[in-house]
Amino acid sequence: MVSEKNNRLIQIAEAYNEAVSEYRSGDMKNVREPVKGIYSGHWIDSELYHMEDGTGTSCYLLIGKEKALLIDTGMNAEEVMPYLRKITQLPVMLAVTHGHPDHMRHADEFQEVYIGQKDLEILPEIYFIPAQLWPLDMEQPPGNFQKQRFIPLKTGDIIEPGDLDLEVIELAGHTPGSVLYVEHKRKIIFSGDALGCGSSVGSWLFFKYCPVLSEYVKNTKVIYERLKQWEDYIYLSGHFFQMFTEAEPMQRMVPPGLVMLEDTITMCQKVLNCELGYEESMLPVKDVVRLHWRTATIEVIRSHIR
Ligand SMILES: [Fe+2]
Repeated sequence: MVSEKNNRLIQIAEAYNEAVSEYRSGDMKNVREPVKGIYSGHWIDSELYHMEDGTGTSCYLLIGKEKALLIDTGMNAEEVMPYLRKITQLPVMLAVTHGHPDHMRHADEFQEVYIGQKDLEILPEIYFIPAQLWPLDMEQPPGNFQKQRFIPLKTGDIIEPGDLDLEVIELAGHTPGSVLYVEHKRKIIFSGDALGCGSSVGSWLFFKYCPVLSEYVKNTKVIYERLKQWEDYIYLSGHFFQMFTEAEPMQRMVPPGLVMLEDTITMCQKVLNCELGYEESMLPVKDVVRLHWRTATIEVIRSHIR
């Protein structure tokens, strides 16, 4: 079962690599961050399209019979709809994994937007990313969402646009209202940034609205128990390239999933019990430390280790 799951992921990774490499120069065949600024993508199957926004954010388009559903918009400087129109002529609805601008910059191109209720409650705060973390040579998007109708989501909700069917699971951590979208037909979990990846990037939990570590462990344990029943599902994350380490990337894939969740829980407990140390983060943010153990990595505010 596990190797079948890995084969599915490897196939997707190879197609991803081919799709983004078209836009890169030279012989860069390794899976890495796509070149900034150009949308690209590939079909995972005839009704699921994996889109890269050109800045490192991964989005997924599900095609139903009457409607399509986009999971996250990315934050390319160009509008997303013209690119989507090359893929489908169906009406497209939007569901975001969380309220960060690199995932919903183009929410204003959609009339109805699904979003975790806890992110919606403090969206202006969540939508703002500290300037030193803003990696791009571009202005932060304004976050002007007056015209949209936001539809708040909580655990157990089912989104049914057309004949599509997605189950919602909240995982408070990266943001208070981060959600996972579970698609049972294909056995895929769209995980946004809630789980991070096992590479050096890991999960970012250092925003001031992130929970303290003990609370995060509590949340994660509950979600782990729920996700355990779907052991053979694959996780497609919000920054696909982060699954790969720098060396021999195709061989060194660390996908998010149950193992990573398990490692995350154990790691946090060890740190809370002072059985495991941590180091200063390399990120340009004050008072952030990096925890790492096996496949788990998180960056957290020092004062939140309690
Ligand atoms: Fe995020």
